[in-house]
Amino acid sequence: MALEPVMTEDGSLTFYVPDLKEHYHSTFGAVQESRHVFIQAGLGSFASQKEVSILEIGFGTGLNAFLSLAETKKNGQRLFYAAVELFPLDESHYSKLNYPEVTGFTEYKELYHKLHSSPWNVPVQITELFCLEKLQADICNWKSDPEKFNLIFFDAFGPDVQPELWKEAIFTELYKTLKPGGILVTYSAKGSVRRAMKSAGFGIEKLPGPKGKREMTRAMK
Ligand SMILES: C[S@@+](CC[C@H](N)C(=O)[O-])C[C@H]1O[C@@H](n2cnc3c(N)ncnc32)[C@H](O)[C@@H]1O
Repeated sequence: MALEPVMTEDGSLTFYVPDLKEHYHSTFGAVQESRHVFIQAGLGSFASQKEVSILEIGFGTGLNAFLSLAETKKNGQRLFYAAVELFPLDESHYSKLNYPEVTGFTEYKELYHKLHSSPWNVPVQITELFCLEKLQADICNWKSDPEKFNLIFFDAFGPDVQPELWKEAIFTELYKTLKPGGILVTYSAKGSVRRAMKSAGFGIEKLPGPKGKREMTRAMK
């Protein structure tokens, strides 16, 4: 997949995928979007919990994993972070990204690289508090254990360019792998996506979106 680096409005870089005519993140700010949707509306819901298990759909640039790891440094929370990704980025791509600098966590630059260079398909203890398991798989036929995760970061490419990833069958699998009381967060607020989530059993909450988007979705089991 050809990728072109693009500067977003908050100074953080993302990639544009010409084949899909789609960016990895919002051009209004990759870091602001990730913080708003995944960290504040997602991980923030579990602030009082000592240990949280997260599943990310689409590891990509590792931005959500990196911000989650940075949270553990602030609050001492222990995270198990699994991420499904079909097309891992190679070093020539991820080494271009400026997330440690833009987020003010320059001291964690090596950890950002470790998130990418660690082996796939095995759990790796990145720090004492952060365990990462990157799974190279197609989410369309990936199966997980029931009731394994507290939180899902659903960060696939948009429903207009990859509609097959936003279907009821996928959300049904994700519903199964969430613990009772678990939540799924995503930047999309599309009606067809919410209906597919509802049919899979989720309760839906509309929240204000990050800059450039009116709404986002938080779905509850
Ligand atoms: C919108 S990007 C976001 C990625 C990431 N969360 C980030 O912050 O960079 C979507 C990601 O989903 C991955 N992807 C696309 N199709 C997939 C599939 N069928 N199964 C798993 N991952 C897929 C892409 O390679 C890409 O890394």
